[in-house]
Amino acid sequence: MLLRVFGYIWGSLLLTMLLFVGLVSGLDMSAPEGAMRRMDRELMQRDLVFLAQTDSVAAAQSHWQRVAAQHPDLAVRFLDACSGDTAEACIEVAFANNSNAAVDAVPFLLPLLVGAAVSALGAIALSQWLTRPLRTVSSALQQLSEGQLNTRIRDRLQTGTGEVARLAASFDHAAERLQELTESRQRLFHDVSHEIRSPLARLRAAVALLELRPERLPEMQQKMETDITRLDQLVDGILTLARFEAYQTEPEVEALDLADILEPILSDATFEGEQRGIHVAYDGPDSLPMNGHAEMLHRAFENVVRNALAYSPDHGTIAVCCRATERSLVVEVRDSGPGVAEGELSSLFQPFVRGANATAGQGMGLGLAIAATAVSFHGGRIEALNASPTGLVIRVTLPASG
Ligand SMILES: Nc1ncnc2c1ncn2[C@@H]1O[C@H](COP(=O)(O)OP(=O)(O)OP(=O)(O)O)[C@@H](O)[C@H]1O
Ligand SMILES: [Mg+2]
Repeated sequence: MLLRVFGYIWGSLLLTMLLFVGLVSGLDMSAPEGAMRRMDRELMQRDLVFLAQTDSVAAAQSHWQRVAAQHPDLAVRFLDACSGDTAEACIEVAFANNSNAAVDAVPFLLPLLVGAAVSALGAIALSQWLTRPLRTVSSALQQLSEGQLNTRIRDRLQTGTGEVARLAASFDHAAERLQELTESRQRLFHDVSHEIRSPLARLRAAVALLELRPERLPEMQQKMETDITRLDQLVDGILTLARFEAYQTEPEVEALDLADILEPILSDATFEGEQRGIHVAYDGPDSLPMNGHAEMLHRAFENVVRNALAYSPDHGTIAVCCRATERSLVVEVRDSGPGVAEGELSSLFQPFVRGANATAGQGMGLGLAIAATAVSFHGGRIEALNASPTGLVIRVTLPASG
């Protein structure tokens, strides 16, 4: 780009220089023809008047006859009763045959003015062309600031490669991210208010009912406690998600062992699963060193394992399998539950998304969103796959230390 702009500017300067050199060399620098002819006529008039005054009109006439051949474009008229005293008034020197005395009317500066005008037009066109990408970006930024987040400029800057194409691609990428973030924020606000509204409305109805029928308190108490617990979990989930998202800009990582984080989660799951005959199996190395944020990793794997427990049938199996490669740690949590409909797999990590298999009234759809935020903070990847013949696999890939 720099080279191209340099080429255009240098080329236009050279062209302007050449244009001026051409015009100047093409110019006739001698006195204009018309001026010479007027001077010739003046001199002839003076000569003849001088001769008539100092000698005689006849001498002036015979002088004109001698030199007339050398001045074909002049015509001399001696008026009647011409004498030496009135010579000035009665000798008329004119251009012969009405020859055009105005041919010298071409102004001396005209070619230069034409050259300057042509190069100015060229400069305007060139500057318009060179500043077009900047004007496009500026107007697109204006549109973005006015809230038109679907503004894109790749098609408007139809350049193949180079800096301008890269600028357009970066702008579009930034606008796309901004649009995604804004839309997900709006969705989140909508979902949060929707989720909070239902238990609050139930609590308000219960209070109104109890005012009228206080004797129903024992019956309502259980329902009210369920709603309060749900609200409590909801607020905790939202705050955790917001806190983890805020961490994205303030990384605080330490050297830790992922196996130490998984161990208490799995032993809790083993304990909880025992009551339903669920077997929790771990297969992997004793040590999984990495750099990370212990609380985030704990919440991420706790949510995944809790889901596996929740969706496993009685006497099912939860297999946690870890692999460490030179660059990454891969943890897979597989259960023997029903899995998830294929079309829902990719959206499970969005806040407040619950699958069609989710038990009504249980869970808020925040667990996997929290896990995904925590994993993305570590520069890792989380994915959901349906296992064969049944069950769900959540695969988390994290960068290994060193
Ligand atoms: N192991 C699993 N087997 C089947 N479906 C699952 C499994 N894990 C998650 N899901 C599906 O993914 C959805 C989202 O899970 P997520 O953990 O985000 O929310 P939740 O468990 O419903 O609520 P909570 O916020 O309490 O965790 C669940 O509602 C469920 O439909
Ligand atoms: Mg969950």
